[in-house]
Amino acid sequence: MNLTAAAKADFLPTGRYARLKACSTRSAAAGLLAVVTLLLLAGCREDMQVQPYQRPLVESDFYADHRSERPIIAGTVARGHLQSDTYFYTGKIGSNDGDYMPFPVTAEVMARGQQRFNIYCSPCHGEVGDGNGMIVQRGFKHPPSYHIERLRRAPIGYFFDVMTNGFGAMQDYSQQVSPADRWAIAAYIRALQLSQHATEADVPSGQTVASTPPPGVFIAPAYDTQGTTDAASTTVPPQPPAGGGEQKP
Ligand code: HEC
Repeated sequence: MNLTAAAKADFLPTGRYARLKACSTRSAAAGLLAVVTLLLLAGCREDMQVQPYQRPLVESDFYADHRSERPIIAGTVARGHLQSDTYFYTGKIGSNDGDYMPFPVTAEVMARGQQRFNIYCSPCHGEVGDGNGMIVQRGFKHPPSYHIERLRRAPIGYFFDVMTNGFGAMQDYSQQVSPADRWAIAAYIRALQLSQHATEADVPSGQTVASTPPPGVFIAPAYDTQGTTDAASTTVPPQPPAGGGEQKP
């Protein structure tokens, strides 16, 4: 090997040594690139942080109505809120109250209706719907009994409508009671009406109707604030069996 060749080998690396050298140059470049990228990204974030924005619900000069919030476009329906079944949501056919349930009345629907009725309606209408609920006994306007002829003839959609829109002194229950529950309550009111006007002909043949409560069951007389207590409801109720009920020390 002469000197020129040796010098050449030093400056123009060949073979394995050359590959190593190229490799380290590349990783240094990659490192530098990463640092530059990070710096650039940091710059980007800075830009987006200071972009102009509008605080919610403040005055704005940008829109003609000076509101920063845009009103919902007319006819917008939130997902899952399309009320396409008009009868289910209004109880009406055109402008008249309909007289059918929009879904089948099962034992579960009746149980639900009874439970919702006792929570939301019985405080005024009483548990049998006679209008003698506790709030009424404390001075609130006396609602009509559900058992009067007019309300017995009223279509079931009417009850749905009263719950949905209120009636006279009675507020509406559209926020507290869902449409399905309002129908369940309406179905239960129909059952209450039947319970006060049923005849033996309504009982399926082969079944007997007991005329007195089974032994041990005490049916309390209606609490009467109107001063029209009759003899039947003033009789002293039977005493609870010994050992039962509240004990005095
Ligand atoms: C805070 C007491 C109160 C509660 C609770 C209440 N109502 Fe009423 N309701 C009234 C009063 C009072 C009236 C009579 C209103 C009037 O004539 O101004 C009335 C009237 C009615 C009527 C008869 C409308 C008519 O044509 O005479 C129906 C039906 C009715 N309510 C259903 C319900 C149902 C169903 C619920 C439960 C979801 C309910 N109400 C809960 C007080 C109440």
